[in-house]
Amino acid sequence: MKTHPALSSVIITWSSLRRLGAVSLILWGGSSGLPVWAASVDADLTARGAYLVTAFGCADCHTPLKPGPHGPVPDLSRALSGHPENVQLSPPPKADASWTWFGAATNTAFAGPWGITYASNLTPDPDTGLGRWKTEDFVRAIKTGKHVGVARLIMPPMPWPALSHLTEDDLRAMFQYLHTLPPIRNRVPDYQPPSP
Ligand code: HEC
Repeated sequence: MKTHPALSSVIITWSSLRRLGAVSLILWGGSSGLPVWAASVDADLTARGAYLVTAFGCADCHTPLKPGPHGPVPDLSRALSGHPENVQLSPPPKADASWTWFGAATNTAFAGPWGITYASNLTPDPDTGLGRWKTEDFVRAIKTGKHVGVARLIMPPMPWPALSHLTEDDLRAMFQYLHTLPPIRNRVPDYQPPSP
């Protein structure tokens, strides 16, 4: 759906959206206001996506932490862009019977019985993020736990088994919101399966 140009610069808040919804309903009733109606539905979906992405803590793993004066803080200049390509990690500690998995200081790389996973770039960068993904690729990836919706299994700690319970509409909303983020070029390292 296309965003109405008059609305593209509106800063989205819940209250402004409610107002938009109300305004477009009035226009819908009173004129041939189809584009305005379409735009308000679109904005509703984006706002719902923002709400879901925030409430489900996607940024906890997909936005890298950096050192702050009182401990680690999210590096918002890299919001949702996944494990930073320029961060070199030492080999993970050895697991024992008590401690079976580990997270890197950035909280974007994880080592465990599944191997080593790196949180992906969820920004719409076409080469390194979700830019070329279709909505259906995203929905299928989260619903089936398959990389890009078709390939290898998506590994922990990506919580797709829980997220797969979301409705397709909610997943579409999340994807639409993710596509409004500033694209950040960051090529996340490939998944490393456990050594045999
Ligand atoms: C606990 C950490 C964690 C949380 C929370 C998390 N992710 Fe992930 N995510 C990961 C890791 C790690 C990977 C890489 C997994 C792999 O390579 O197998 C990943 C991969 C992905 C992928 C790529 C899947 C693919 O096809 O390769 C998408 C899309 C994604 N996450 C979306 C989300 C969204 C949306 C949320 C919030 C609703 C979220 N993630 C929350 C850790 C997390």
